[in-house]
Amino acid sequence: MGQTFSTLAYLVASVLFIMALRGLSHPETSRQGNIFGMVGMGIAVVATLLKPGMGAGGIALVIAGIAVGGTIGAVVANRIQMTSLPQLVAAFHSLVGLAAVFVAAAAFYAPESFGIGHAGDIHGSSLVEMSLGLAIGAITFSGSVIAFAKLDGRMSGAPILFKGQHWLNLALGILMLVLVIAFVSSGSPLLFWLIAILAFALGFLLIIPIGGADMPVVVSMLNSYSGWAAAGIGFTIGNLLLIVTGALVGASGAILSYIMCKGMNRSIVNVLLGGFGTTGGGEAGPGAGGGDRAPVKAGSPEDAAYIMKNAQKIIVVPGYGMAVAQAQQVLREMGELLKKEGVEVTYAIHPVAGRMPGHMNVLLAEANVPYDDVKELEEINPEFAEADVAFVIGANDVTNPAAKTDKSSAIYGMPILDVERAKTVFFIKRGMASGYAGVDNELFFRPNTMMLFGDAKKVTQEIVQALQR
Ligand code: TAP
Repeated sequence: MGQTFSTLAYLVASVLFIMALRGLSHPETSRQGNIFGMVGMGIAVVATLLKPGMGAGGIALVIAGIAVGGTIGAVVANRIQMTSLPQLVAAFHSLVGLAAVFVAAAAFYAPESFGIGHAGDIHGSSLVEMSLGLAIGAITFSGSVIAFAKLDGRMSGAPILFKGQHWLNLALGILMLVLVIAFVSSGSPLLFWLIAILAFALGFLLIIPIGGADMPVVVSMLNSYSGWAAAGIGFTIGNLLLIVTGALVGASGAILSYIMCKGMNRSIVNVLLGGFGTTGGGEAGPGAGGGDRAPVKAGSPEDAAYIMKNAQKIIVVPGYGMAVAQAQQVLREMGELLKKEGVEVTYAIHPVAGRMPGHMNVLLAEANVPYDDVKELEEINPEFAEADVAFVIGANDVTNPAAKTDKSSAIYGMPILDVERAKTVFFIKRGMASGYAGVDNELFFRPNTMMLFGDAKKVTQEIVQALQR
């Protein structure tokens, strides 16, 4: 009875996880998706606690783990800034990897508890699953720690490259395969720990050559790895739910990486081999970075308000700077005021605007911008030519035409929002600094561009005040 109950509960939880992923695929259903995921996880935890043979000691340990981990997770998640979410996700992935290493070690040293044989005589198939979980888990751990350090600015985001790097990684990869085969045929503890050490080193070496601009894809790939590590461990301990959940995380992480690569027009192989991207835009003030180009035209919030009031069609392009300034609420206010004046206002979302997938969608949804006003790149791009104003707020790379014209540019080939086709382009940013990819944007120097220098929230507030006058 107990076993049937837990199997049924696991099945329900698995279905809820799939429904969660489905819900998360659209902003309108994402809240519901989150709830499905939380209920599924709740059911999974209760079913695990009620499993036959758990015992009071086991239940107490699980509850203690949830209390400690849950409290730390809740405090950290509550404190974290939205713009720092990518590094938080990287830090959390490192823990998933480490957990996989610990479970593999527990299964290796106490195989009886997992029903996979006896010490020194573990089933061959279990050794295969265990070594895969161990290796992928350890790579995920050290790789995620490096990703966290790069994203959090604790180490340089620039690619760390040295001669023969790819050959070294290839050689270590082959050595790993040899060690796994030797471990499966011998079950030697020494080989177990050699695999762990080698995998930790590989995780480190695989991520250091990857530049800051590619880090989000890497975090998503590591997310995928952590899923496969969990699935591998699920086989070891014979837990169906862990296999299903691990596979879901593994597959969705891989798909997300693919979508991000498409958004940046990069191949996944190119990303994983590394060497692209820099630490990100500098903090130069107005006037910097222009070289001997034409001077930029700077305007005031009042100028912008006047032009927008008299426009018919405005397309707002939010980017990372809007997230930094937390300007989404006042931006929505501005949109509403303009709509009252009879202006058509829509919001254009680039797939990699900001610092994480769906970043802009989440912020606009938080500010109650109607979903119908928010358009994806393919849908909105043909409309820029008919727009009177492209209102670019804290976005840079995603508007940079160098992606279309300059083959030597780091962002060449990335699809961009064609803001320059609008009659007037406003850029709200604090200065002339480049964006994340570290590439200058020649749009700032075009005659139909007006720069609105300042913090995105402050400038938009001033525009709102001017519109209300
Ligand atoms: P960016 O190109 O990074 O440009 C953001 C601009 O915002 C900067 O040039 C900065 O200029 C300005 N800014 C910063 N703080 C501001 C503030 N408080 N007020 C006003 N402006 C502010 O952003 P984007 O156009 O959104 O493009 C995203 C980039 O990040 C792409 O290169 C993408 O590949 C990369 N990336 C994307 C993701 C995902 S998955 N979304 C994750 C990581 C990286 P000033 O300093 O002059 O103000």
